[in-house]
Amino acid sequence: MGTDKDTQTKYFNIFTDNDSIIIRRCTLEDLEGVIEVNEKELPEDYPYFFYKSILDNYADSFLVACNSSEKVIGYIMWRVEKLPSKYNLEFTNKGHLVSIAVLKNYRRLGIASALLNKSMLKVKNHNIDEFVLEVRVSNYLAISLYKKFKFKTHSIKNKYYRDGENAYYMTLKA
Ligand code: ACO
Ligand code: ZN
Repeated sequence: MGTDKDTQTKYFNIFTDNDSIIIRRCTLEDLEGVIEVNEKELPEDYPYFFYKSILDNYADSFLVACNSSEKVIGYIMWRVEKLPSKYNLEFTNKGHLVSIAVLKNYRRLGIASALLNKSMLKVKNHNIDEFVLEVRVSNYLAISLYKKFKFKTHSIKNKYYRDGENAYYMTLKA
């Protein structure tokens, strides 16, 4: 599991006109900031213990982007799921993108792309055969981001969201 040194690794620096963004592993102290970004940018809210359990179990791929005042302005979190294989009686691991979001003022700078790039390398270490995710069929920004990463629409999950909207189930071979 992670060492202190690992959580201090700065994976990425993005310089904008008046700010500098770093990407690093999420810590317990960051969770409040992560929840704030989630509540501003996505209709799906999760209880605190949900974030905490992702951090406890999949800390290596739980990343945050912070601005120069150390404020969380973006995050990505994954979990690894064991599912029956389509081809035999074995089980396979899938890296499931639970959630990604970037605050509006920090969009289109490549932050989500950097979060995906860095975290996918970590998820891959969990011996997965596929990356998978659900996204609202109306969420063009996120869908174009996933397409840029070569995710393909595998199927539609009917009424996946509480408000009745359908989801695209998108997958990418690891
Ligand atoms: N118009 C068109 N394409 C866009 C736009 C836009 N405004 N914004 C992003 N994209 C696409 C483009 O393909 C872009 O690549 P390009 O800049 O090379 O053309 C690509 O996404 C990556 O852009 P980034 O700058 O890396 O993405 P950003 O940091 O802006 O974050 C995100 C993208 C996370 C989708 C952001 O818009 C957001 O937080 N949205 C609200 C939260 C959300 O919908 N999250 C996904 C939910 S699904 C899930 O979590 C499993
Ligand atoms: Zn999901």
